[in-house]
Amino acid sequence: CGIVGYVGERSAEDVVIGGLRRMEYRGYDSAGIALVLDGKIVSAKKAGKLTNLDAELAAHPLPQANTGIGHTRWATHGAPNDRNAHPHLDQTGQVAVVHNGIIENFAKLRTELEGLGYEMVSETDTEIVAHLLQEALKSTDDLSDAVRAVCRRLEGAFTLVFCDARHPDVVVGARRNSPLVVGRGEGENFLGSDVAAFIEYTREAIELGQDQVVTITPNDIVVTDFNGNPAETKDYHVDWDVSAAEKGGFDWFMLKEIDEQPRAVADTLLGRHSVDGRLQLDEMRLSDDELREVDKIIVIACGTSFYAAMVAKYAIEHWTRIPCEVELASEFRYRDPILDKSTLVVTISQSGETMDTIMAIRYARQQRARVLSICNTNGSTIPRESDAVLYTHAGPEIAVASTKGFLSQIVACYLLALYVAQVKGTKYGDEIASILAEIQKLPAGIQRMLDEGDQVRKLATELAGSRSILFLGRHVGYPVALEGALKLKELAYIHAEGFAAGELKHGPIALVEEGLPVFVVVPPKGRDQLQEKTVSSIQEIRARGARTIVLAEDGDEDVVPYADHLIRLPKVPTLLQPLVATVPLQIFACEFANQLGHDIDQPRNLAKSVTVE
Ligand code: G6P
Repeated sequence: CGIVGYVGERSAEDVVIGGLRRMEYRGYDSAGIALVLDGKIVSAKKAGKLTNLDAELAAHPLPQANTGIGHTRWATHGAPNDRNAHPHLDQTGQVAVVHNGIIENFAKLRTELEGLGYEMVSETDTEIVAHLLQEALKSTDDLSDAVRAVCRRLEGAFTLVFCDARHPDVVVGARRNSPLVVGRGEGENFLGSDVAAFIEYTREAIELGQDQVVTITPNDIVVTDFNGNPAETKDYHVDWDVSAAEKGGFDWFMLKEIDEQPRAVADTLLGRHSVDGRLQLDEMRLSDDELREVDKIIVIACGTSFYAAMVAKYAIEHWTRIPCEVELASEFRYRDPILDKSTLVVTISQSGETMDTIMAIRYARQQRARVLSICNTNGSTIPRESDAVLYTHAGPEIAVASTKGFLSQIVACYLLALYVAQVKGTKYGDEIASILAEIQKLPAGIQRMLDEGDQVRKLATELAGSRSILFLGRHVGYPVALEGALKLKELAYIHAEGFAAGELKHGPIALVEEGLPVFVVVPPKGRDQLQEKTVSSIQEIRARGARTIVLAEDGDEDVVPYADHLIRLPKVPTLLQPLVATVPLQIFACEFANQLGHDIDQPRNLAKSVTVE
């Protein structure tokens, strides 16, 4: 969910709605706002996207106010309707609350409150927080004290933001296992689920720690723990500006983010190797001695980040000679994995807030493994809870389906693998330098794939009536196939599946029928014969009627007779091919969904960061 809070001199409605709009990718089942004025709270909320709330506010304008809170929701408890939308008010209408997360002892607290005579008007776990606050305010006039008392009673994950009619220029926030950042302004202050909430007004932010309560007034920010003891916080400066969170001439954020990939990759490489070709990862926080002790690497992630992990495995094992496993975060801790202090767990997360991944990190650390996270979001939960971090510098990713996040994650994994190889001496310095030199050429290769996007868009227009599309690849091309299929599922809502091309003959080939579009990522020619074997697979499916869309490197003439459509890739080493081959698949999925009239940035049922398990 997206949360905003504001105190200052501006129109709170403008600030809150603007912040919600920039964070709409966090959830869009419903949206709502509450403003504090003249000793009372006014609010408006609407099911569906933020535009529905806009229409409601245009039809029934709210009075002018300078303090407010707002929320866009991704439903967990209760259907996404107007009644369940946030903010929730207490029975007196004096306090309003917005919430992200899940309150696990909700049922128990609800029974207790019903026993005290409270009547619930929604099916949400949030409403009970408003009533608990009303109870707490019976024994104190101080809103922050009351919030702390409520937080001490809650179990689970939550970001909560409150306002109170009796305290017109105060907003109070609290967090446990769920994100909340503070924006420091002049004569005004902000709260947000992330900095996009307030980036238009200030780039000075404060990172809150676990189990903290923050009270903002126009000229003050006070942070305590849940017992009221002063808490330590960390200030930071946001190094991107509002234009990075806006569409910049593109119809969709996703198209903009695809277009930004050369930059995202270049920025992720920036400053991480010296002129002599040696890698330096300054922010790593793990010593070379600690890295030399590593005898097993487990890479953990969800969704698209998981496919980046699958790609990474090939490079990690090849360059470091350390055995590497890849695991879905949601499965990891349930299989009793074998971990100890010489295991390095690498987690990959664009948002840094994916709950499945957070829980995997906690489990790994309990088992004494070291955890390094690869993450795109400064100050988010995952890097905070890890022993070490390597940031991808892709800039904010707004579209729900990940694109530049994915490419920059692969690059970061490669930097890590090469660094470990350098430390362990499994690769000589000149070998590392020459691999780095190839990686440096990638932004240009990615740019070429963007420049040649028209043929892919044309193909998507032609194929937009298809109900099923398959993707095949081998080696690192296999996760690329999985990612190509995932993008199409996410955006176009059609059946799309990725397979390892060699596995085709063991079952999936039964799916092939006349006219079925099949994308095939062909590995570069090499000593391993993978290119030849993949060409045979193309022949097999084409003989059974498939319409083949072949992605092959420049100069590969073997594929020409069997390709109904040929997408050329620049010549790059095998391990780097995913960084160029994924781009046309992203463009294809966008245009395919566009032809069907779907919302590309906010596909149905999905959320950008899933902060529940
Ligand atoms: C959600 C998003 C996916 C994303 C996954 C992992 O499910 O819809 O696009 O790949 O989370 O997100 P993370 O932020 O951890 O990379």
